[in-house]
Amino acid sequence: MNKLPEHVAIIMDGNGRWAKQKGKQRFIGHKKGAKAVREVIEVAAEQQIKFLTLFAFSCDNWNRPEEEVSLLMKLLVSSLKKEFNHLIENNIQLKTIGDLNKLSLTVREELYHVIEKTKKNTGMVLTLALNYGAQEEITNAVKAIADKVKNNIISPEKVDQSTINEHLYSRFLPPVDLLIRTSGEERISNFLLWHIAYAELYFTKTLWPDFSKENLLEALINFNKRERRFGKTSEQLTN
Ligand code: FPP
Repeated sequence: MNKLPEHVAIIMDGNGRWAKQKGKQRFIGHKKGAKAVREVIEVAAEQQIKFLTLFAFSCDNWNRPEEEVSLLMKLLVSSLKKEFNHLIENNIQLKTIGDLNKLSLTVREELYHVIEKTKKNTGMVLTLALNYGAQEEITNAVKAIADKVKNNIISPEKVDQSTINEHLYSRFLPPVDLLIRTSGEERISNFLLWHIAYAELYFTKTLWPDFSKENLLEALINFNKRERRFGKTSEQLTN
C-alpha cells in the first residue's frame, strides 16, 4: 500500500446486535468487542498507523440502562489493566478525548495511570473518546475563546481555524484520514466533527465484535484506492 492513512478513527458499532443474534446478553457483545479492540490496535500499530482514535463511550451513552453503563466502565478498567503491557511492548501512547470528570474515580485513576506510563512512548497514539461528543467539544472551545476575547487575551479578528483547533480536547490529533463505522449504520453520531472535514468514510456491515485484522486491512486497501482531491481537480493531482 503506497498511501496509508495517518489518522484512522473508528465508530465501533454493533456489539448489542451481535449478542442478540447469538441469543446472548448485550454485555457478551461488549466483551467480544473488547477483544476486537485489541486486535485492531495490534494491526494498526503493525501497519504503522500513527493515530488510532476509537469512539468508546459517547456523551449520549449515559442514557443506556445503568447496569450496561456500569459493565462498560468495568470492562474499560479491566481492558486497560490487561492491555497495559501490550501498550508498553508496542511503544503505544494512550490518550483520551472527552470530559473525563463524569467518569468514576476508579476509571479516571486507571486511565491516568496508563496515560502517565505510556506518555513517553513514540509509536502509535491510541486515543479513546470517552464521554465524548463533538458538538460539546466545539461548544466548550467557543466558550473558552469567547472568554479570552472578553478578557482581551485574543482579538476577534485573530480567531481563525487554528484558534478553534487549539481549544478542542482533540487539539493534539491531526485531521482524520479514514473514518470507519461498523454494523451497517451510515452515520457520524457526533464523532470528531471538526477533524473529519476531509476524511474518507468507510462503512462496513460487519458488526464490531466480528471486526478482525482482515477487515481493517480491507478498509486500508479501500482507502489506498481513493483519490483525495482536497478541492483540486484530478488533473492537478497528477501533474
Ligand atoms: C457499540 O455497540 C459499542 C459501544 C457503545 C461501545 C464500544 C465498546 C467496546 C467496543 C467495548 C470495550 C471498549 C474498550 C475501549 C475496551 P452497541 O452497544 O451500540 O451495539 P448495538 O448498536 O448493536 O446495540
